[in-house]
Amino acid sequence: MAGPADLLAGLAVPAVLVDPEGRPVIANIAAETFLNASQAALAERGWAAAFGKNSAVEGLLRRALSEGGGCAAYDMSLHFPAGRTVRADVLVAPVGDSLEWMTVAFQTRSVAMLVDRKVQHQGAARSAVGVAAMLAHEIKNPLSGIRGAAQLLATGADANGRELTDLIVAEVDRIAKLVDRMESFTDTRPQRLRPENIHEVLGHVRKLAMQGFGAGITIRERYDPSLPPVAANRDSLVQVFLNLLKNAVEAVDDNGQVVITTAFRAGLKVRPEGGGPAISLPIEVRVIDSGPGVDPDLADHVFEPFVTTKRGGSGLGLALVAKIVADHGGVVEYERSGDPERTVFRVLLPVAGA
Ligand SMILES: Nc1ncnc2c1ncn2[C@@H]1O[C@H](COP(=O)(O)OP(=O)(O)OP(=O)(O)O)[C@@H](O)[C@H]1O
Ligand SMILES: [Mg+2]
Repeated sequence: MAGPADLLAGLAVPAVLVDPEGRPVIANIAAETFLNASQAALAERGWAAAFGKNSAVEGLLRRALSEGGGCAAYDMSLHFPAGRTVRADVLVAPVGDSLEWMTVAFQTRSVAMLVDRKVQHQGAARSAVGVAAMLAHEIKNPLSGIRGAAQLLATGADANGRELTDLIVAEVDRIAKLVDRMESFTDTRPQRLRPENIHEVLGHVRKLAMQGFGAGITIRERYDPSLPPVAANRDSLVQVFLNLLKNAVEAVDDNGQVVITTAFRAGLKVRPEGGGPAISLPIEVRVIDSGPGVDPDLADHVFEPFVTTKRGGSGLGLALVAKIVADHGGVVEYERSGDPERTVFRVLLPVAGA
């Protein structure tokens, strides 16, 4: 089966080829990562290698096999051993005309879409995944070639020529950095969440901001000191609030105000789209600025990748925020509120150990 294996290998989507009994035969690398099981383990122990016995995926496959043809389960909860649950669309499709061999593809969903509130940006992180994976593959290799060639040219060039080769190298580096940033979207490994003190994270971010892009702007803090620890990956959270703070700073002028607030919202629950128990997200962090707010035409799209109004902006800041917050099981929203009206980016996160 060299053909399908090659085909599968090229896909950024986790995909598994299954035999007429519904057993996994070939898993691509994305699937091995997603399922946290090697192709060998899957071939030997079947789906149990990924999910344990009697998994929902097996049930879906049985249905597909008995009905003949493909089927899909949207927003399925996949339970992995050790308590990890991932929501994904699971698509079962016959291979070619044969109704017996099938592929199973997993399309992960951001958990932010669980929300029964106006969160429209759910697909944002997902849509970036495919693009990012492709770019990472297709761009990075030629880039290093271009960079090397430019450096080689530089050795024999006069001052004018070197100016140009330096320009090439600098621009290549800029593209490589952009691709690196996009690659963070393709990282669908589960986040290692640990109890973190959100105020410590925010304090760190604020310090970074004030030494860098926020120099000269006062960033005030209004914290609820009694907040319990949040379940988080610290580095990722730092990235979330750095991006939000950077946008806030960029939105205000010299007399502008930027405030970070935290609060505990005990009653706040969000309900998964496909049913299931509501999830409590009581930790609220708001990044507020006195700038003009998001252009109303854009407001529904700011969390999508490549949406930017800034010269030199990549439009990836908020898309990454949406992805990371979703990976934490949280929610991020934009709103204008208060009197005088302020720009508010609100992040809701679960408590550690909940
Ligand atoms: N605090 C804010 N006030 C007003 N507009 C905002 C704010 N935050 C984001 N936006 C709008 O949303 C767009 C997308 O933001 P995002 O952070 O994703 O990308 P960016 O800031 O343009 O570029 P990058 O973050 O990649 O450098 C911005 O270009 C801006 O138009
Ligand atoms: Mg930004």
